[in-house]
Amino acid sequence: MAKCLVTRQLPGSALQRLRQEHEVEVWPQRTPPPAAVLRELASGCEGILATVSDAIDAELIAAAPRLRGIANYAVGVDNVDLQAAIASDIQVGNTPDVLTDSTADLTLALLLACARRLIEARAEVIEGRWQAWEPMSLLGLELRDSVLGIVGYGRIGRAVAERARGFGMRVIHSGRDMDGFAQLLSTADVLSLHCPLTPQTHHLIDAHALAKMKRGAILINTARGPIVDQEAVAEALRSGQLRAAGLDVTDPEPLPPDDPLLTAPNLLVLPHIGSATVTARERMADIAVDNLIAALAGGQMPHRVA
Ligand code: GLV
Repeated sequence: MAKCLVTRQLPGSALQRLRQEHEVEVWPQRTPPPAAVLRELASGCEGILATVSDAIDAELIAAAPRLRGIANYAVGVDNVDLQAAIASDIQVGNTPDVLTDSTADLTLALLLACARRLIEARAEVIEGRWQAWEPMSLLGLELRDSVLGIVGYGRIGRAVAERARGFGMRVIHSGRDMDGFAQLLSTADVLSLHCPLTPQTHHLIDAHALAKMKRGAILINTARGPIVDQEAVAEALRSGQLRAAGLDVTDPEPLPPDDPLLTAPNLLVLPHIGSATVTARERMADIAVDNLIAALAGGQMPHRVA
């Protein structure tokens, strides 16, 4: 029996399986453990099941000399210091595939809401400002024949492309090494981000990139907040360079309520709910637990990234 830390309650029955084999401590609160508390809790553990809001950094890894497996409850692993884990011979696993459809669905939800101005339209009704059906009011972007530019054409990018084609959109995408990125910027009516957060993609969408986009384009981000320079996005929304932005992810998460981004017009921000369906979150728990059990048994995690 190995000692494991699970940093949040998880849906489904996966944790019961982990408890049958190991001594499991589950952080009981809805907010993540503060960094110092997480380090302290992790220090005696052989396995950690962590979420995207837990920084599994070099300091934590150094403080946990018995650690053998980090199972991240996410497909992205930017919250884990992979180099530090590799240097300490710790396996790292993620939960790919099972959240592809839920994240692609949410991307389309943001895209439709931005293209058809749902937030503004709803506000008109709720605030009693809607006076009459009008031929010229709340006109949005027709999706058929509009160009969707996908940055990061992996599992989720492809699933978004499949859905967008169903709406008649023309899909273009960047290549593996971001070739074609400049063309994407200048051609897309909607730009949707699906690349991992790395030093190369940090602030990929900055003032410079936004200026190269078509005037009145839409930006969607369901990947990671820091891929976007939020100040530049707020400015582009204010100037009309961007028609609208739909962001499921921000930097930081959560955004403080007085963050200037939140006062930008035509902005729809969600609290990182890309994978938030019962099916996806239960399957993510199953895979994360499978990863941890395998590493603690001395085998390979089935979904190992490092
Ligand atoms: C969620 O953001 C994930 O990476 O799975």
